[in-house]
Amino acid sequence: MRVLVTGGAGFIGSAYVRHVLAAHPGDEVVTLDLLTYAGNPANLAELESDRRHRFVHGDIADAALVDGLVGECDAVVNFAAETHVDRSLLDPEAFARANVVGVMTLLDAARRHNRRMLQVSTDEVYGDIPPGTHSVEGDALLPRSPYAASKAGGELMCRAYAVSYGTETVVTRGCNTIGPRQYPEKVVPLFVTNALEDKPLPVYGDGQQIRDWLHAEDHAAAIDLVLRKGTAGETYNVGAGNERPNLEVVRAILARLGKPESLIAYVPDRPGHDRRYALDPGKLRRELGWAPRRDFMSTLNDTVDWYVANPGWWRAIREGQAFADYHERQYGWRLAAAGTLPAAAG
Ligand code: DAU
Repeated sequence: MRVLVTGGAGFIGSAYVRHVLAAHPGDEVVTLDLLTYAGNPANLAELESDRRHRFVHGDIADAALVDGLVGECDAVVNFAAETHVDRSLLDPEAFARANVVGVMTLLDAARRHNRRMLQVSTDEVYGDIPPGTHSVEGDALLPRSPYAASKAGGELMCRAYAVSYGTETVVTRGCNTIGPRQYPEKVVPLFVTNALEDKPLPVYGDGQQIRDWLHAEDHAAAIDLVLRKGTAGETYNVGAGNERPNLEVVRAILARLGKPESLIAYVPDRPGHDRRYALDPGKLRRELGWAPRRDFMSTLNDTVDWYVANPGWWRAIREGQAFADYHERQYGWRLAAAGTLPAAAG
């Protein structure tokens, strides 16, 4: 089978491309990626000489380009997205464009060529989950940030195409994912790289927000299973069962790196910050036999160790103007200002 992987130069997308090529020796992959700030050719560098992989630079909202590529492939897996909640609070429109209009453009091509499309979505579409409960696939979608709303919009577009035109769609809703090559705006790579430079780790609010942590390789394996064996029209939660409050994750990072807890800096909370996400992954386990291979500590340590071993990868990003500008806008202090606490720290 030939799979079109959109957003394949990103973090989970590139893990997925590697997964397909390793797990299915007869398969080919075409990666389509716009290479915006988080798409990184270095994420696919090791595949340069692999004749089963082809890279195309372009936009999922480019209808003519997408139509040709979908026609050449047997299935589409869409990772292309704006993904960072904090950025969605700064620029919601970019999120609607990529995560709703982009998805619709892919669906149009999948419909025309009669191809299966998997939409990679998120546990954030369920909104804030009270303690003691877990989200199942039939629960209401109650997104609370522009990011989560745009991802819910993309999913609903898949549903509409499935119902209205009979397009074969499947949706996965993943929890917080970490591992090698994640852009260092997300909390774990941001905190690991800040700590390695002895800079403060800006914890939002009280740090007691709960997320469920999954390794990118486990996430990629789950997506592949749903692409090949999932029932058309269905949605599958991809949760690891590793619920942890943020502060516990931060302390585990510092302990792994041998850095002091004095690097923790409490800063004002994210507006509308969801306290907890918690998926029930039972459907994926029961129906398709998926389970993550790694536990929480192995997931976190593998991630931390990768950043320690690959400073060239993340320094190239952090030393760029775009990252420094975003960091200053978001946190109110320039990364280059070594060792100073953020102005907003309490
Ligand atoms: O739950 C799945 C989602 O996980 C994905 O759909 C998103 O694409 C991905 O960005 C992630 O969303 P989060 O908002 O949970 O991830 P983030 O790394 O931004 O934040 C994780 C937690 O850490 C959250 O409670 C906010 C907190 N945080 C984050 C940053 C960047 C901080 O305390 N300080 C920070 O500087």
